[in-house]
Amino acid sequence: MDFDMRSISWDTVKRIKRAKIIAEQIAHTTKLKKSYSALEFGCGTGLISFHLYDKLKDITCIDTSQGMIETLKSKIQQNKIANMTAYQYNIDSDHLLTPKYDLIYTCMALHHIIDIDTTLANLYKLLKKNGHLCIVDLNEDNGSFHKLEADFSGHHGFNQNHLKEVLRQIGYKEVESQTFYNDVKDIDGAEFQYSLFIVLGRK
Ligand SMILES: C[S@@+](CC[C@H](N)C(=O)[O-])C[C@H]1O[C@@H](n2cnc3c(N)ncnc32)[C@H](O)[C@@H]1O
Repeated sequence: MDFDMRSISWDTVKRIKRAKIIAEQIAHTTKLKKSYSALEFGCGTGLISFHLYDKLKDITCIDTSQGMIETLKSKIQQNKIANMTAYQYNIDSDHLLTPKYDLIYTCMALHHIIDIDTTLANLYKLLKKNGHLCIVDLNEDNGSFHKLEADFSGHHGFNQNHLKEVLRQIGYKEVESQTFYNDVKDIDGAEFQYSLFIVLGRK
């Protein structure tokens, strides 16, 4: 999918409102601490992290899309945010991240990745001992959510039980999940219902 093109108009009123609810859920579920160093992968324009930076020591935001990262960098600069940095990195390759994170979170990025087992194992390596991974993503659907995106090649959401089992196999402990958000997406004039879940695991 061309996230570079989409970065220009990514920050819609609907996405901004949804990001606030998601960030509040991440903060509540992970019991954020001001001492935490965090990583957000698939950060897009930083809609989630903009609601969390004042509750954390620092946030490293990464995304493969140059457009998303350029937009985020200018938002960080305009808002004079000192504890957020953004890099155009792929979580599975070509990055210079070191294993130092108390918390890794991600929102709606995992379903764009084909081999999630490798990605979740890579995230495990980047966490400190006892660090937490927090994933927000789409509950499995019939393909409607990405219906208009002809080049979409990812997952049509996830089955929470399957995802939790994958996480446990990698080594994550105390894995738990819940659905916390229901909404409708307008697709070709028809309203399609979708929901998001949050899953938490500890290294
Ligand atoms: C649906 S967008 C979500 C953006 C943001 N999290 C939000 O909720 O507004 C998914 C993002 O994941 C990024 N992404 C996909 N695969 C990635 C990877 N392997 N490493 C880093 N970012 C990736 C895409 O470039 C895109 O910006």
